[in-house]
Amino acid sequence: MSIRSVTPSDSIPAPAASPARVKPMHEIIAAALDRRAFLQVSLSSTCAAVMTPLTATAAVEERLGMESELFQFTAVPTSKIDQVVVPEGYVAEVLFRWGDPINGQAPLFKPDASNSADEQARQGGMGHDGMEFFALPGVDPNTRGLLCVNHEYTDQVLLFPDGLEPLPPNPVPLEKVRKSQAAHGVSVVEVAVSEDGVWQVVDSALCRRITANTPMRMTGPAVPLTGDKVAGTLNNCAAGRTPWGTYLTCEENFQGVFGTADPDYRSDERRQRYGLEASGYTFTIAGQSVPVYRWWETDSRFDLAKQDCDAERFGYVVEIDPTDPHSAPVKRTALGRFRHENAEVTLAKDGRVVVYMGDDQANEFIYKYVSRRPYDPQRTADYGVNSVGGLLDAGTLYAARFDESGRGAWLPLSDSQLPAAEVAVYSRMAASQVGATPMDRPEWLAVHPQTGEVFASLTNNSKRTEADAANPRVKNIFGHIVRWREDEDDAAALEFTWRVFLMAGNPDHPEPQRHGNVSGDAFACPDGLKFDTSGILWIQTDMSSSVMGNADFAELGNNMMLAADPSGGQIRRFLTGPKGCEITGSAMTPDRRTLFINIQHPGEPADEVSDPLQPNQYSQWPDGPAGGRPRSATIAVRRTDGRTIGT
Ligand code: FEO
Ligand code: CA
Ligand code: CA
Ligand code: CA
Repeated sequence: MSIRSVTPSDSIPAPAASPARVKPMHEIIAAALDRRAFLQVSLSSTCAAVMTPLTATAAVEERLGMESELFQFTAVPTSKIDQVVVPEGYVAEVLFRWGDPINGQAPLFKPDASNSADEQARQGGMGHDGMEFFALPGVDPNTRGLLCVNHEYTDQVLLFPDGLEPLPPNPVPLEKVRKSQAAHGVSVVEVAVSEDGVWQVVDSALCRRITANTPMRMTGPAVPLTGDKVAGTLNNCAAGRTPWGTYLTCEENFQGVFGTADPDYRSDERRQRYGLEASGYTFTIAGQSVPVYRWWETDSRFDLAKQDCDAERFGYVVEIDPTDPHSAPVKRTALGRFRHENAEVTLAKDGRVVVYMGDDQANEFIYKYVSRRPYDPQRTADYGVNSVGGLLDAGTLYAARFDESGRGAWLPLSDSQLPAAEVAVYSRMAASQVGATPMDRPEWLAVHPQTGEVFASLTNNSKRTEADAANPRVKNIFGHIVRWREDEDDAAALEFTWRVFLMAGNPDHPEPQRHGNVSGDAFACPDGLKFDTSGILWIQTDMSSSVMGNADFAELGNNMMLAADPSGGQIRRFLTGPKGCEITGSAMTPDRRTLFINIQHPGEPADEVSDPLQPNQYSQWPDGPAGGRPRSATIAVRRTDGRTIGT
């Protein structure tokens, strides 16, 4: 990829508040209520009581063989090759890789990974994950816009020419810590279509990197405990967007970068619940457990034994204004602290802001936030990163209970014994106290754009020893998806009716852990979920060899992206990724003619430790044999005939 401007950079309009892009949900529902799929379980509580979720699952299986009217493309087969594969008539082009300069002034990537920390802070980060595409005022958003891309984690071997060296007991140099911190966070880049139809990163006054050291504010109920300032955001997994045009980035596995060398340090129950251990995140190398990040050795705010440790300042949803590169991001603590996956925003019937969120750890919970005040589309300038005490600071945080009857309830965390500030910082403890249902690793949630139904991926849970209705598989290594409809079709409702949408797996497989009821193309470990405006549910997989117990991801090949029809349950495989990657994060242009997708960690080996001497041993994507090492990247997928994606 080359950085070049497709229009003069001085034509970029001045930043302005973006118009509202989310219709009030009651309008959408009134216009296009789809009752086909859910009528029998949503109408009466009597009916709901007799129809267990597992019976409802069988109803999906009965539709085997029906064709979906939602999508038209020819499915791609499973794949074990080191390439992105898309259906006939589609192309996939690499747009923005780890190490690519974010503008015309930033340094080029060095294939031996010898870029400095300072250079990394002006290049694409590592581990591309959730993302959103934002229109610019006065610009055709189908040809140009801003991409906000999360960078979830760093592969500490691929990030440096000499990998994890020096190993303990020698301390890791500060320059290495700073580079790893600079490769976390978010990239905001401006992208545009060139004359030959190819998307490229262009020079822009709006581009920026937000890293683990970017100054930001904290607002909401946690502030009495955390203070109102923090440096940086970390482990940025999936994302969301608000009706007033801001980006939400979600902090997930922050526990991995905290630790301590202090032998007298003792973790407490609250930190243990968040996986904060003295050793941080470890790999086993030559039989020895080695901490991977070790930031705490040279940066005391990651040292759990220190007074100024930042552990309780991570694990939040962070709001970013993509159109103002000088604005400080804000951690919205009212949305709770856990291993945040994504933040799916919708509106209640009365306009209150509703945010659905998953906590990605075995036996943790699904959450919902409802703002106290309604959103007013005439007042978008009052919302966003400069507001304090507003829509994302004052509201109620709930956790979900799924009952055997097929009904469910939202339990306010304010009913726990914890004071408000502790609810925000130790949300997991509060959700346990109110009796929420422990789930099989909640990843993304997605709201149907017409019906308002909510879908949640439960990626897997090998630790489950007892099944329940919402998590019906013991040792659930293949995962499943649940769906629910809020009472009165109001996102702010306190109760809902739910069922299992599908059990991932292969209908032909005899093993209970691998047998699924997927109608169409088999897959496992659903993770990324997103609706497009046509109502296709896009599913992305995170099948890891460590979960599935086979170095080449068992019979399903490389990770993939599939289209699902929420009405009939039909599934069709749309894309397969290169070796060892995860497919995660997507965004579409409003005309649905371009689909941006992130390819995360190509070449991640089965034991999760790359070889510093042979960094491209497991994958050479996307640069090929001449490249130095595999690189996470955003790709742009489009049709050669220029028509809409999927349909
Ligand atoms: Fe970052 Fe749970 O995936
Ligand atoms: Ca994920
Ligand atoms: Ca995952
Ligand atoms: Ca992952």
